[in-house]
Amino acid sequence: MKFISISQAMKKGNGKVAIRGWVYRSRGSNKFKFLVVRDSTNIVQCILKREKFEEQWKDIDKILVESSVEIEGEIKEDKRAPTGYEIDVDKINIVNLAEDFPINKDLNEELLGDRRHLWLRSRKMTAILKIRSCYIQARDEFFRKEKFYRFDAPILQPTQSEGGSTVFEVNYYNDKTYLAQTWQLYGEAAIFVLEKVYNFGPTFRAEKSKTSRHLSEFWMAETEVAWWKLEEIIEFAKRELKYCVEKVAKECVEEFKLLNVDSGKLLSLVKKEWPTIKYRDALEILKKKDGMEVPFGKDLRTIEEYKLMQHYETPVVVTNYPKEVMAFYKPEDPNKKDEALCFDMLAPGCGLEIAGGSERSLDIKEMSKRLKEDGENPKNYQFYFDLRKYGSVPHSGYGVGVERVLQWICNLESIKDAIPFPRTMTRFKP
Ligand code: 4AD
Ligand code: MG
Repeated sequence: MKFISISQAMKKGNGKVAIRGWVYRSRGSNKFKFLVVRDSTNIVQCILKREKFEEQWKDIDKILVESSVEIEGEIKEDKRAPTGYEIDVDKINIVNLAEDFPINKDLNEELLGDRRHLWLRSRKMTAILKIRSCYIQARDEFFRKEKFYRFDAPILQPTQSEGGSTVFEVNYYNDKTYLAQTWQLYGEAAIFVLEKVYNFGPTFRAEKSKTSRHLSEFWMAETEVAWWKLEEIIEFAKRELKYCVEKVAKECVEEFKLLNVDSGKLLSLVKKEWPTIKYRDALEILKKKDGMEVPFGKDLRTIEEYKLMQHYETPVVVTNYPKEVMAFYKPEDPNKKDEALCFDMLAPGCGLEIAGGSERSLDIKEMSKRLKEDGENPKNYQFYFDLRKYGSVPHSGYGVGVERVLQWICNLESIKDAIPFPRTMTRFKP
């Protein structure tokens, strides 16, 4: 018989089916064995009656959780079964008898981290991994529709770009290079050829704090566009996020249910206006509504982002952060010299910064000065400055932290669960 997936078998609803997968739960007596079997699509209960398997019973009795099996039998509706169907098994092939599975509900975070490769099989991680995949595919679809080109940049880069303190150094044939902190500088080279470009790639930050929102390796979804100014890039960023959130909310209903997230609420967010406010307005709100005095000139801290986003039910774009604390490539606002033409997008409730972007400075002198202040040698940025010498045009871009978005929409306590194998200050294994 031809194998079909568990969800196809349940759709069929009755008659003979053949499925294969891994044992998710196992219990029984010496007359019956109940196996809940999972594959990538769903789980289904299977009943094995000893009378049908006298010869095989010794092996069947040894089946532990995570054993792999091929099963043929009769499927029918059964309200008592976990997903409403049961297969009365006629034939079973035990592909691998699993050893005692070293995961149980008493394990602490550290031990689950050590066994991450096995913990991925949990229903929670399965749901998150599916939502992640759907999100990334939706984003690709969006950019294809918008007629963007995908452009790939090196991961090994000669310079920092988002602050030297979080850069990972790599020994490169006895020379020094760094792991990409962003794709942006290369994305900027690409706009002179392709005008509208995007990517999706691994990004590295040696974050020296253990927080629930920082990874040392994460996946950034970046965009860079020729000719666009701040307002245009912000509106586009909102459209991108809305498109992707709508898509996952529609396609991953079951997965969100498993995570106790109301996907209907996510869908309703997409229909609403997402406000844009200025950093100075944010400070006013914090002062008036929360009694928090934040002096102009500092980036918003986690607690401030959190407090601010308690007042909103949709994501909010905050623009015009103080120039002095922004990366060297963010230009000043000609109307407000102490502000930069930049933005962050913050998520409602949790207050996570899910995206950051800006117009790009075209002023080589100013950027050189800022780099020197950061202890960098502007000579190392020659390639970047060249882009300002040969047909320079205004341009803008942004990067979305995909794990941050997943943390927000899946309502995850820690960002670590938004990526299969998290790398943090304290873990790079397995
Ligand atoms: O705000 P960031 O640092 O912006 C840039 O790197 C720009 N060069 C992007 C661009 O304009 N093309 O990072 C962008 C986003 C943040 O808003 C956040 O969502 C995420 O990346 N991010 C992290 N996510 C997880 N762990 C970390 N350590 C992160 N650092 C930034
Ligand atoms: Mg940022």
